[in-house]
Amino acid sequence: MSLSAVSDHRFADEAVNITILRQRAYNHRWAEQPSDVIPLTAADPDFPAPPAVRDAIVEYVEGGYFSYGPPGGLPEFRETVSETVRTRKGIAVPAGRVLPIDSAARAMFLMAEVILSPGDEAIIFDPVDFLFKRSVEAAGATPVFCPVDPRSGAFDPGELESLVTPRTRMIAVCNPHNPTGRVLRRGEVQAIAEIAARHNLWIMNDEIWSDIVYGDGGIAFTSLHSLPAELTARTVTVYGFSKTFAMAGLRAGFVLLPDDETYERFFHAAHMPATAGGLAPLVQVAAAAALRDGWDWVSGFVRHLRSQRDYAHRRLTALPGVHCGSPEGTYVLFPGIADLGMTAEEVATRLVTEARVAVVPGTTAFFGPGGEGSVRLCFATSREILREGLDRIENWISHQKERV
Ligand SMILES: Cc1ncc(COP(=O)(O)O)c(C=O)c1O
Repeated sequence: MSLSAVSDHRFADEAVNITILRQRAYNHRWAEQPSDVIPLTAADPDFPAPPAVRDAIVEYVEGGYFSYGPPGGLPEFRETVSETVRTRKGIAVPAGRVLPIDSAARAMFLMAEVILSPGDEAIIFDPVDFLFKRSVEAAGATPVFCPVDPRSGAFDPGELESLVTPRTRMIAVCNPHNPTGRVLRRGEVQAIAEIAARHNLWIMNDEIWSDIVYGDGGIAFTSLHSLPAELTARTVTVYGFSKTFAMAGLRAGFVLLPDDETYERFFHAAHMPATAGGLAPLVQVAAAAALRDGWDWVSGFVRHLRSQRDYAHRRLTALPGVHCGSPEGTYVLFPGIADLGMTAEEVATRLVTEARVAVVPGTTAFFGPGGEGSVRLCFATSREILREGLDRIENWISHQKERV
């Protein structure tokens, strides 16, 4: 009999199929680690995708045809996205300005390529997911770091504005924020949009985490794109299906464009007319099904994640030398480990070699200079796996103390 405390069978210990994950879960996870290592690394759930997604794929496959789709994407997908962001996030973007694309990562690189030129500056938060820095640099532009508190994710809007120079062309926002888990307050979102409007800047608005929000203390997600039109005239919102619907390998995402002209620029820069679209019709069908019928699964997932977060946070804050905030959104924790007297790289390397648990080091390469002194752990797994991972970390830290 299972000892799992999870009442929702979809997220019980038994729901995690490690045999399949070892074959399919790359990106520092099961398929890339030795078999005795627990990978609390990339933010990719250990649970299978919602039944709505799997059923839609099976039905499409059984139809037997894999014909070309329209270059701008399937009307069914674009309309479902437009309706979903309107009802769930208050974003008014018509289907004709929804650009399907194969992942949020690709969308970020596309936006940087369209908007930025060599010599331009783009303000990004620090620490933040490496995709922001990489996409800006890939366009030949220079990332300028606006510090956020590594525990709370808070930033100072005055400091953000002070970083604007005549070369600044874009501000990149990650809301909720990876890796601190902050859900930006309405006032913060408004402040960023006002700064951008005052200086005529574009906003790369990454909302891939916007459905993984815990709502503690009434902290609700506010989409920057739901602000009045005069503040969002140069806002481009990026979304991907990896985090909400456990479908990272399907590489599904979309971009919401503020006007027809900008839509055309993105559409052509992505070579969609010539290549017949940026997202396979099969994947658009699966993603549309997720948006239509996947929300009950997502609610159960977020309930499970909240309990995982509270459990992991309680255990990490009890460890000597570890300082951990509690994420308001996302399923990552970003504990500070500087008081252990080692760099993030050293902690991560020693955790994997000595304790057999993998975490992401807060190095500049992963999160920018502000990541140093922290490591990132993903808790979108079963309680059993999380417990074992934390047991190993706790055990390892207690041995460091003994040595001191
Ligand atoms: C903030 C942020 N943006 C984008 C991505 C990439 O998502 P996708 O799988 O859609 O490329 C991630 C993945 O971790 C992320 O955390």
